[in-house]
Amino acid sequence: MGIDKILITGAGGQLGTVLTKELQKKYGLDNVVASDLKMKPNFEGCFEIVDVTDLHALKKCVLKHKITQIYHLVAILSAKGEADPLRTWDINMKCLFNVLEVSRLCNVNKVFYPSSIAVFGDEIEMDNTPQSPNLTPLTVYGMSKVAGENWVNYYYKRYGLDVRSIRYPGIIGYQSMPGGGTTDYAVDIYHKAVKEEPFSCFLEASTQLPLIYMDDAIRATIELMDAPAEKIKIRTAYNLAGLSCSPEELYATIKNIYPNFEITYKPDFRQAIADSWPNTIDDSSAKNDWNWKPAFDLETMTQIMITALKKEYKTVTV
Ligand code: SER
Repeated sequence: MGIDKILITGAGGQLGTVLTKELQKKYGLDNVVASDLKMKPNFEGCFEIVDVTDLHALKKCVLKHKITQIYHLVAILSAKGEADPLRTWDINMKCLFNVLEVSRLCNVNKVFYPSSIAVFGDEIEMDNTPQSPNLTPLTVYGMSKVAGENWVNYYYKRYGLDVRSIRYPGIIGYQSMPGGGTTDYAVDIYHKAVKEEPFSCFLEASTQLPLIYMDDAIRATIELMDAPAEKIKIRTAYNLAGLSCSPEELYATIKNIYPNFEITYKPDFRQAIADSWPNTIDDSSAKNDWNWKPAFDLETMTQIMITALKKEYKTVTV
């Protein structure tokens, strides 16, 4: 087997920014191609501007770089997607179809497709939500992920394309900002605390949601992609758990460090979305099949987030 050449779509996003660097470390700077609609300032490595809704542009990039693996991260998320439901559906599905078709036609041998806790809806058990309940999501983003999970399973069964997927909880990291999700509050809150500004939360105090610290999310992705194919028993998407908490619990851990930090609660349309998502997740299939084990709890995550953001804001203001 030759050298793996990796393409990341949506490389400028919250997860893509960090995953690109990890994949560059793992595969070498020359073997990773980051792509997005525009390049981030100071990006190091190989970058291509690719609009994934354009099949020919994607195909050209894959052939040019002899890509063997695609991490397809482009998507319009849960909250932002509700502003224009049909456009969200079109973009999320078109991009996935293009990635699957180009992979099938151009000898890409592995694809990573992120799914989400947004696949769940109000027919689930909220605690320890199982792997395969009725999936009746409230958002177009969630519907596109349920359909997407079934499409990747179809490409695996019909064409043997090795696509792997995780249902990410809300991802929390200091390196990049999320864009348009319902769990975004859990990143914003740390920025406000470190800037010593009050925080207005768009969810109610007690809304418990599954979250995951960025390093765990990245490690889960790489461990899933590295696992031997025969270990991957689920070809739709794996439930994955990191930690679970509510805004008031998150606030309390921050208040231990910033005793004067203030929060107010002003729930908006995102409350209904959050209410339809699990409190906690049963990820025993991921644990059994490819040995998933999260490493970060709420306290550890808070310590790391605050230390890193303090440093960042100091650098910015000096
Ligand atoms: N973090 C995402 C969102 O809130 C869930 O995948 O939309």
